[in-house]
Amino acid sequence: MTLIRLAYASRANFKSSPDNKGVEPHVARILMSSRRNNPKQGVVGGLYFGDGFFFQCLEGESEAVHDLFNQLRDDERHRDVTLLLEEPIHHRSFTDWSMKYVPIESDVNALLKDAGMERFNPFVFDGALTQSMIDCLRRGREGFDGTGMRRRQEGFEKTALIVAGAIVIIGLATVGAILF
Ligand SMILES: Cc1cc2nc3c(=O)[nH]c(=O)nc-3n(C[C@H](O)[C@H](O)[C@H](O)COP(=O)(O)O)c2cc1C
Repeated sequence: MTLIRLAYASRANFKSSPDNKGVEPHVARILMSSRRNNPKQGVVGGLYFGDGFFFQCLEGESEAVHDLFNQLRDDERHRDVTLLLEEPIHHRSFTDWSMKYVPIESDVNALLKDAGMERFNPFVFDGALTQSMIDCLRRGREGFDGTGMRRRQEGFEKTALIVAGAIVIIGLATVGAILF
């Protein structure tokens, strides 16, 4: 079993029109699908959408990542899907996120400035800039408060429910023992 990281660039097939929470509705739907599907495949990663371009980083078992990549490259919401990086890894680095979304006002702007770029265009990213962009996704703040948020938080909520259920059962059993 081999863990890999894969990053690609693509061009959106829709005109960006952010909703009142600042997240483009197409992107919001993509994030909801990703957060629903990726945990089942053990895939994690980060997504950035800016100036009509997508940049996405996927991490997980090689087969799961390739299956997902092959599926999403046919998605009609984007085109010109171009692989920027594929490398073996020892650990997933987006451990808390089935698909983290970093908003446009993040330190990606600082990265572009440092690289002398006026607009976001991942098609011209070299290896170093691709790695720096992945770092930005790791560090950046999460910007989409949709469903299926942090995997760890979901786990915590499940545990809290089980503990609460156990306390209720023990409480009822104790009351029953006292009364009868
Ligand atoms: C830029 C982009 C990134 C996507 N990333 C993912 C992803 O990480 N996981 C995923 O399941 N679908 C992703 N999708 C959506 C898939 O192409 C596909 O629509 C989805 O997996 C279908 O699943 P659903 O029927 O559960 O919505 C992405 C689509 C686009 C355009």
